[in-house]
Amino acid sequence: MKNIAFFGGGNISQAVIEGLLISGFKKNNIFYIERNPINQRKLKKLKINNLKKNNTKIDLFIIAVKPKDAIDTYYNILNEYEDPRIISFVAGIKSSKYKKINKEIEFLRAMPNTSSKFGYGVTGIFNSSFSKVNLKKIICLLNRLGVVIEFEKESEIDTFTGIVGSGPAYFYQILKSFEKKLLKLCNQDQKLVKNIMATLIKGIGSSIENGGDLDNLIKTVASKKGTTEAGLKSFKSNKFNNILEEGLNAAIKRSREISNEF
Ligand SMILES: NC(=O)c1ccc[n+]([C@@H]2O[C@H](COP(=O)([O-])OP(=O)(O)OC[C@H]3O[C@@H](n4cnc5c(N)ncnc54)[C@H](OP(=O)(O)O)[C@@H]3O)[C@@H](O)[C@H]2O)c1
Repeated sequence: MKNIAFFGGGNISQAVIEGLLISGFKKNNIFYIERNPINQRKLKKLKINNLKKNNTKIDLFIIAVKPKDAIDTYYNILNEYEDPRIISFVAGIKSSKYKKINKEIEFLRAMPNTSSKFGYGVTGIFNSSFSKVNLKKIICLLNRLGVVIEFEKESEIDTFTGIVGSGPAYFYQILKSFEKKLLKLCNQDQKLVKNIMATLIKGIGSSIENGGDLDNLIKTVASKKGTTEAGLKSFKSNKFNNILEEGLNAAIKRSREISNEF
């Protein structure tokens, strides 16, 4: 997979492109097609190539437009390029929709998240029709962005989307409460507060990597009648985990609904 073209160069494409670049993927081998001037400017800054029709052999197309634009984009690729291999990042739209239009081409769905930008992405994939050899190459490519999970059932991608695809936003939402308190504590020093939050999250990541079990990790922080225990008790009485789980369920439900809208 030497040359990759992103069809739609918004939030997720930019994150993935930056992740590929920091992993050592050559910028000369990354192309984009983008209509939005704001995103065009951002992509230019990354010094990757605007794909001019038919002048480059593209080994892999990535559809990264909103669901409403996905099928038109798919038709565009099929009409303009011979035997394209296609990955769709688009939430919701099932493989069968694309296959109905052309069942010959190699196609799979992938669901990355924006942490791919730093090599901390988690990407779920569902292979529809890639050959074993090419699937291996795709997994190798996506592994550059972080962790890859392959699903056997396509419906699992919807669950994954609600949990991990949207996941970073939930953590940002939780961190807003930390930020509010920390800004007050640190005389509104935003730089310091960002540094504290980033370090906190990195430390949590390392602890999980090294220690594993979440209940044990909680025990390492909370002591009897201490501050953490007081905080945890309040979370429990306010059903914090139920609220979080309801949020995850709402996202999973929406992800399934989108599947049925298109
Ligand atoms: N953002 C995430 O974290 C994330 C994670 C996983 C998957 N996804 C999926 O990835 C897809 C893209 O999400 P996003 O957040 O990156 O969206 P986005 O920021 O809106 O980017 C999509 C870009 O594609 C452009 N576009 C649409 N149709 C086009 C066409 N025919 N030719 C050229 N450019 C075209 C859009 O232009 P206009 O603005 O003019 O429409 C827009 O700039 C969605 O389907 C989403 O479900 C997103």
